Amino acid sequence: MKEIVRIQDIAQYVGQEVNLQGWLYNRTDKGKLQFLLVRDGTGFAQCVVFKKDVPESVFDAACSLTQESSIIVTGVIRQDERAPGVPGGYELGVTHLQVLQVSAEYPIQLKEHGVDFLLDNRHLWIRSQRQWAVLRVRATVVRAIRDWLDGHGFLNLDTPILTPAAGEGTTTLFETDYFGEPVYLAQTGQLYSEATIYAFGPVYCFGPTFRAEKSKTRRHLTEFWMVEPEIPFCDLDQLMEVEEQFVSHIVQTCLKERAAELALLERDTTLLEKVVPPFPRLSYDDAVEIVAQIRAETEDPDLKQQLALSWGDDFGSPHETELTKRFDKPVMVYGYPTQAKAFYMEPWPGRPDVTKSVDMLAPEGYGEIIGGSERISDPDLLLQRLDEWSLPREAFEWYIDLRLYGSVPHSGFGMGVERAVTWICGIDHLRETIAFPRMLKRVYP
Ligand code: 4AD
Ligand code: MG
Repeated sequence: MKEIVRIQDIAQYVGQEVNLQGWLYNRTDKGKLQFLLVRDGTGFAQCVVFKKDVPESVFDAACSLTQESSIIVTGVIRQDERAPGVPGGYELGVTHLQVLQVSAEYPIQLKEHGVDFLLDNRHLWIRSQRQWAVLRVRATVVRAIRDWLDGHGFLNLDTPILTPAAGEGTTTLFETDYFGEPVYLAQTGQLYSEATIYAFGPVYCFGPTFRAEKSKTRRHLTEFWMVEPEIPFCDLDQLMEVEEQFVSHIVQTCLKERAAELALLERDTTLLEKVVPPFPRLSYDDAVEIVAQIRAETEDPDLKQQLALSWGDDFGSPHETELTKRFDKPVMVYGYPTQAKAFYMEPWPGRPDVTKSVDMLAPEGYGEIIGGSERISDPDLLLQRLDEWSLPREAFEWYIDLRLYGSVPHSGFGMGVERAVTWICGIDHLRETIAFPRMLKRVYP
């Protein structure tokens, strides 16, 4: 039995006869030569079947292969610059072929399909090159997140998904029945992480997050993954330093480890190479002025309409898109109005209408990837905010406790994995960055 090699490692096996286990992605028939593009989950490799090099039965089997047929290919690996694939530049001179199944006619051809059709067939679509590349980048983003946090003194402590109260505003709650009591799917783990910092120091939670988003935008999912670091003895300035280090590490890791995937996605990586600290900081007040200026200058009436904004409003996608076009790195917009943000944010000293909050907006028009802030540490102010936001004190008693027993200034942020991956991959829509997206009109498959 020859060694089973994974395509991502084939460069190490030049000159050796090995086995690849995978599926036929594409076949080009050149008469006596059959070019099989085989994928095995780690890459795509060209396997060349030359009629005179194999038994007749093997050649016939190669000719009968349909797209997605499952096969074990035996052959000698050779270097050839022209060979297509991921990573390209290597191919297999086939000596033997075992067919596990000749696939039934595959619904997804290597041509354009409508996105609804593709989403209905998401269980198959993920086999396609672009989708495969995006989800490989995602896996690296997730690992880079954990590596950086684990390596910088953060303890991973996961937080509950079934929660008795809103964490991020009451309009996007998913309610479910908990033995006769209403509970909600977690919109954030933050409030619980604020408890765990008092036991463990810097922590992070990392899990699925739910928002009943009624909007159909390309930036919103109803189920997404969020990593939320929380840090005691940390103010807004220190938080911004953590954020820029964290995001740079993730981007630089993808550039190093997912070059082939980013190339396949035709990502302009020179833009990502610029993502190193420091990131620009911009106050909300200044950002509002920049938006007003862009609005005044544009001749596009639709854009003019979309960019309408008064002080106090949160930015929407059009504002963020226009703002971030002005920067070639992520920009950290800080000091949002109290009325636009969540109840738990620490007020700006001397400006009660402003919070010590920061959103990180990704460049090239991608917009918000991170939301974060310093948290209220004073129990009386927190009680006042709960009342102002009409949130029930009973449900938050434990959260108020945290302000009674050794309260300290503390800060944290949440980064949506899909937002980060969308930007790093340079794609248009969040739905391609998660294996099985959940959206307003989609919970299948
Ligand atoms: O700005 P958000 O709502 O902040 C929080 O949830 C805080 N509790 C985080 C914290 O301070 N610990 O959400 C944080 C991030 C956003 O910047 C975005 O990346 C992502 O979560 N996000 C979404 N991603 C996909 N679909 C949605 N519907 C999202 N809503 C938020
Ligand atoms: Mg936000």
